[in-house]
Amino acid sequence: MGDVLQVIEKRSSTRGYTEQKLSGEELERLILAGLQAPTAANRQEVHISVVEGDNPVLQEIETVKNEERGIQNPPHNFYFEAPVVLILSADESFYWGAVDAGIAVENISLAAEGMGLGSLIIGCIKDALSGEKKEYFANALKFPEGYAYQIAIAIGHKAVGKKPHEYSVERNVSYV
Ligand SMILES: Cc1cc2nc3c(=O)[nH]c(=O)nc-3n(C[C@H](O)[C@H](O)[C@H](O)COP(=O)(O)O)c2cc1C
Repeated sequence: MGDVLQVIEKRSSTRGYTEQKLSGEELERLILAGLQAPTAANRQEVHISVVEGDNPVLQEIETVKNEERGIQNPPHNFYFEAPVVLILSADESFYWGAVDAGIAVENISLAAEGMGLGSLIIGCIKDALSGEKKEYFANALKFPEGYAYQIAIAIGHKAVGKKPHEYSVERNVSYV
């Protein structure tokens, strides 16, 4: 586990994984990191669906996503063949559901980096999970009643590296 500031500085998206699976302890630690995230009014409404990389439901999501986007023969699937994907859903009627899920997914991402693992936050399947097959996928992914997809994260051992992104304090920060 690294110092939190070092972990934030080092983290970047991983778009290539080895075939090594996560251990049960690693997976549990990552899930707890998501559940330990703050939520508005401590509602704790964010739900995590744990999906192994070889679960056929991921291929079904991939197919719908590609059909919607007119993509043929993509070089990778949406989770870059990671051994596990965590899919975060939240109560659709709760005002802060999306924000809470975003905070939880970043907690998981930083935990992964701190544990020496790679991760990729995934938004590109939102239309596939919110369209005609919304109920089908909600059932397949065991979302609680009234819940909708918010965000997902692929996690695994890094097979590729990438530098952290550039940023500009000048462009993005105002002192008022
Ligand atoms: C809300 C959100 C959705 C994202 N969705 C995707 C995605 O669907 N596919 C993907 O390859 N990367 C996705 N990313 C990763 C971003 O592209 C990435 O964080 C950004 O390019 C900055 O790079 P870094 O994470 O390496 O710092 C997403 C990131 C966020 C925060």
